[in-house]
Amino acid sequence: MALQEGKTYSWCLCGRSKMQPLCDGTHKDIYLKITQRPVRFTVEKSKDYWLCNCKQTKNRPFCDGTHKNKEVQEATNIKV
Ligand code: FES
Repeated sequence: MALQEGKTYSWCLCGRSKMQPLCDGTHKDIYLKITQRPVRFTVEKSKDYWLCNCKQTKNRPFCDGTHKNKEVQEATNIKV
């Protein structure tokens, strides 16, 4: 995803956003009882970045390859 230096982004942590991997505010719906909040972040350089979509990365909000693990693929139905 192309990200711009100095701009603040909100990475969806709850997994319910329809604008993945970014937050669309769905976590605020009181009826969904979502406790996770988005991860706010900036980048130091304007360029393309790999953002995590499986939500299992240990380097939020960036992809660390965890989606390739068998357990994550089975749980999320992600095909690599
Ligand atoms: Fe998922 Fe905001 S919609 S954190």
